Formats: sequence, C-alpha cells, structure tokens
Amino acid sequence: LDNGVATTPPMGWNTWNSFGCGISEQLIRDSADTLVSSGMKDAGYDTVIVDDCWFDPNRDAQGNIHGDPVRFHSGMKALGDYIHSKGLKFGIYEVPTERTCGQSNNQYPGSTGSQGHEQQDADSFAAWGVDYLKYDWCAKTGTLDEQVAAFGKMRDALHNTGRPIVYSINPNSFHDDKTGATYDWSAVANMWRTTEDISAAWDKHKTTNSYSMGVMDIVHINGRLGGQAGPGHWNDPDMMEVGVGSLSDPVLSRSHFSLWAQMASPLVAGNVLTTMTPAVKGILTNHDVIAVDQDSLGRQARIVADSDTELVTVRELANGDRSVSLTNTGETAATVSTTVAELGIAGAPSYTVKNLWTGASSTTTGALSAALAPHESAMYRITPGGTISTTQALPANGTYEI
Ligand code: GLA
Repeated sequence: LDNGVATTPPMGWNTWNSFGCGISEQLIRDSADTLVSSGMKDAGYDTVIVDDCWFDPNRDAQGNIHGDPVRFHSGMKALGDYIHSKGLKFGIYEVPTERTCGQSNNQYPGSTGSQGHEQQDADSFAAWGVDYLKYDWCAKTGTLDEQVAAFGKMRDALHNTGRPIVYSINPNSFHDDKTGATYDWSAVANMWRTTEDISAAWDKHKTTNSYSMGVMDIVHINGRLGGQAGPGHWNDPDMMEVGVGSLSDPVLSRSHFSLWAQMASPLVAGNVLTTMTPAVKGILTNHDVIAVDQDSLGRQARIVADSDTELVTVRELANGDRSVSLTNTGETAATVSTTVAELGIAGAPSYTVKNLWTGASSTTTGALSAALAPHESAMYRITPGGTISTTQALPANGTYEI
C-alpha cells in the first residue's frame, strides 16, 4: 500500500503470543519500558501493539469504542501518550467483522468489531495517536470480493484521518478460504498474514493437524510468495515466537529469526519482555540479521533448495551483497551445503562471507557449507570480492560450525 509508511518491514512487540486476552495498561506500560531499557527499541523494535481484548465490550450511546474500563481504566489516549513519551509507536487491534476473534471464541463477550463503524473507529484511533492497526478477519465465511471490500473500507477510513498509520491485515482468521496466501494484497495493506496462526513449534504439521502452524509450515507457504513483497507491502508470516515455549531453545530461535529476516518479514516479537533472557535478547537484537530484514531494496529471499534434510534461501541486498540461510530441516545433525553458482551469484573470483551469528568472516571461491544440529540455521552475508574483515578464515574443508 502506497501510504508513505512501512518502507521497510515494521518492527515491534505484540501482546498476543504470550498474553492472549490477559492484558492491561500496566502490562503494556511495563513492556514499553522494557522495550527501551533492554535495547530492543534501539535495535529497531519501535511499535507496541495491543492485540485483541483491549476494549470495553459495549460501545457507548454514540457507538464509540473505548478501552476496557477496568484493565485500561486510564483510556486508550493516555496509553498512546505514554507509549509516545517513550519514543515508541502505538499499535492496536480491530476486526472488519462483527466480533473479534477472542469474542468469537467466547473468551470475551460483546460485539465490538468495526463493521459499520469503520470511519468512526478510524477517527478514534487517530485521536488516540494510533500509528499501526492490525485488522483481523474473524469470520468463517465471506467471499474474496467481500474481504477486499471490507479491508479496503478501513484502508480508506485510515487515509481519511490524515494520520500515517501502518495497516496490517489478516484475511485468514477462522476463514475457510486462506485468501492471505492466494491473493496479492499489496494495494490494500502494508502487510498481510499469509498463513494460519503461528505457535511455538518447529514443524507442527508433522505431529498434529491443529489450526496453528510451526515455523517450517509457515516458511513453506510464505517463502514462496516473494514476488509480491516490497517497500510498503510485505508478506506477514505472523508474529515471532523467538523466546517463547519450545522455541526458547537458542538453536531454534536463531533459525526462526534467520528465516523471518530472509523473508523480509515484519519483525514483531511476542515473548515476555520483562523476563527475557540475555540469550533471547541477543538473538532478537542481532544487528546484522536485522540489517538483512530491513534492507532498503525490500526483496524477499528466494528458496534455492527445499527438502526433508535442507532448506537454502538467498536474498539480494541493496548494496549488491547477498544474504544466505542454510537450514538443517532433518532430525539428525548434518552438513548443509550450497555454492555461489546454485545461489545464482557466480562470477567473482572470490567472495567474502560473514557468518551473521558468530560475526566471523572468511573467503570462498564458491562453496558454502555448515555443520548444523537438527533444525539449526546458519546465516551469511556474502560480498563478491572484498577483503576478509577478521582473521577467522574458512577451514580447509570449507565447513564451519556456528
Ligand atoms: C487471530 C489472529 C491472532 C490474534 C487473535 C486474537 O487468531 O490471527 O494473531 O490476533 O486472532 O484473537
């Protein structure tokens, strides 16, 4: 969407993955504070997004929506002011349907969707200082045309407010047709969910058929949609589970984060910030990996190889470098290899290779490989020619571990 925002993938933190409906203004304030004190804000995570269940289940007599009178008793404008006072941006959640997903699940009573209140709600958001709207289709049915019309209605309502607001949509929630991946939403929104909800799992389809997906399930869908991504319009493979549940394992968290950066994904953390370990913080704030995600060219990675044992992706960067991920998708330790020819970047006599997780640099004339634990990823930035910036060279067999 050409509305002047999200020229690189949005970055922030969202309440849903760790807190669900259990949110309050105090939690948001504490999380905003921690976003700043932890260094996450300096690393680029600049938006605090309040997901489902923030509202009073009853609109007022004029049909206006308000924050929950107990959990958000200071009001949403005050919360926005607090977030802004920390130098952060304010994100909020609504739906184009009658009831939010939390309400549809009967976790929360009422009927506060924006359906029929689009301009009124957009005006409220703008008055509260909202900078980012997550707008989530919470109905089983609805044709693609109806979805495009409903999402377009809020796009236009936000535009009418005159306030620059990042517009993030999810056409998939509870919907029988997963139109998030089958339609190009780039004229409608700044980012759109391409899959069902993420959960803190590596490849869930192998173990269960439940609604939510694991990291690899999502990569197999979102990773193939690169042609439609670019500045102002991004595929959204969902908020991150780095540091959440079983993905707290640093090997899995690094893998997940590497793949999201390769896919030029919005980087929205979903972990509990106030108890974040140094290891998780180190992963989420890796500036070399973030620089790939935020690269100004905005080109999503291409999948070069994909099998039960390996996934290889390559991404073109603005300065002519390439970023590469090598992932061991198998269940046993293995070496994953590729070559510059396979990556489509052959031609230079040699390449400088920076390992973005160890910081080590080396050179290669063409081969690239990494010995990896199950589900581990290596990530590199490759510069044609150039000089080695550190003394740690590639071992003779061309293999190094992270
Ligand atoms: C849907 C979305 C989630 C979250 C919940 C809130 O499931 O996909 O990201 O916003 O709704 O109920």
